Amino acid sequence: MEKYQIKGGRRLSGKVEISCAKNAVLPLMAGALLTNEEVLIKNCPKIVDVYSMIKILRCIGVDAEFIGNDLRICADGLNSEVVPFSVAKELRSSVFMLGVLLAKNKRAEIPYPGGCEIGLRPIDMHVASLKSLGVVIEEDGGKITCDASNMKSGVVYLDFPSVGATENLMLASVFTKGETIIKNCAKEPEIVDLMNFLNGMGAKVSGAGTDTIKIDGVKRLHGTIYKPIPDRIEAGTFIIATAITGGEVEIFNVNPENISSLIHKLCNNTCKISLNNDIIYIKCGKSRKSFTIDTNPYPGFPTDLQAQMTALATVCKGTSVITENVFEMRFKFAKELIKMGADIKLYGRTAIIKGVRKLFGTTITAPDLRGGAALVLGGLVAEGTTIVNGVRHIERGYDGFENKLLALGADIKKI
Ligand code: EPZ
Repeated sequence: MEKYQIKGGRRLSGKVEISCAKNAVLPLMAGALLTNEEVLIKNCPKIVDVYSMIKILRCIGVDAEFIGNDLRICADGLNSEVVPFSVAKELRSSVFMLGVLLAKNKRAEIPYPGGCEIGLRPIDMHVASLKSLGVVIEEDGGKITCDASNMKSGVVYLDFPSVGATENLMLASVFTKGETIIKNCAKEPEIVDLMNFLNGMGAKVSGAGTDTIKIDGVKRLHGTIYKPIPDRIEAGTFIIATAITGGEVEIFNVNPENISSLIHKLCNNTCKISLNNDIIYIKCGKSRKSFTIDTNPYPGFPTDLQAQMTALATVCKGTSVITENVFEMRFKFAKELIKMGADIKLYGRTAIIKGVRKLFGTTITAPDLRGGAALVLGGLVAEGTTIVNGVRHIERGYDGFENKLLALGADIKKI
């Protein structure tokens, strides 16, 4: 099991280039199946989740391989609508296969995407929405079998603006005759990216980024070359890493609008942040003030930056209060920060964090992707050496994480 060894106390400084967004690329990879022509996803991050998705595509006959930094996908060899458990178990985003296989072949069989470290992550809204459009769905023995031969257009109202359910419905409806409307849909930037990608292939999708998306069915889609949006969560992670080390960093290839809630939160703290198109310049002092955060669906504060902000809060003056409103088990990493001397008390979905003078390096374990990133941030500021186990969690969503931190002056290496 690979680990990170981090010697804390270094201020981050220099420049870092953000990769394209994991949470944009994964639904795009599924969307590429909606044509038999070649699709090229430019500057695709080489992260574990992308390789897991490549495995899923290949096992149903789809060509998927990196050509340099671009990911080439060609689905003209698609030969099955059954996604085996052996490949789907590694990746929750296998659920996107439901939508594309129903659109393309009117049939799909996928294993129940497991819950994960941050919650049960059911797909009841995906299932209920598809059923309301006429898809016949059987759920038994840990798998879902779907028949979309009588799928029709219609209006779907999501009880919660689920990112995955919104994306699955968009993918499932591109060929459905008539107009399908998704109300109370997710508004994340990755949803807008999926709309732009699909429209670039000849789809007719509108409204992404608002609470109502409309999909007018078309007969077929053609290939495309598409560059996904920058990863707002990776960018946010480096911004918080700069804040926790009192550093001075220029972050390239980022859309500041997509992380305005974080920028607003830190500007009111002690960070000097200036924006210039797709560059964020951030300079932070050592005297950081405590803060309050409630995570919410976009444009609220992103749940995927909650753990990183909790790490920052451990060394801010005063008491911070962070409430996680999106996932039910997203504070597992807190006990690892407590081993480093953090003062964190959990009350259900709320963490009360009393700032301490310093954290101390020790051996800790990443429980999940963003919790793991938070532990690395703790190690950057801790006195002494921190060993973070479970690097594989972190490599699911960050491309070259330790090399980017190393280039900013951190003392970090994989051992
Ligand atoms: C996406 O997950 C992201 N993953 C997550 O990023 C992100 O945290 C989440 O959206 C929220 O922004 C990808 O895009 C690949 P949801 P998703 O459906 O689609 C519940 C990361 O760290 N729910 O909006 O699974 C669900 O349990 C990952 O990069 C149901 O109850 O999120 C959760 O509590 C983590 N029933 C809440 O809704 C459903 O049918 C939000 O889930 C669907 C969801």
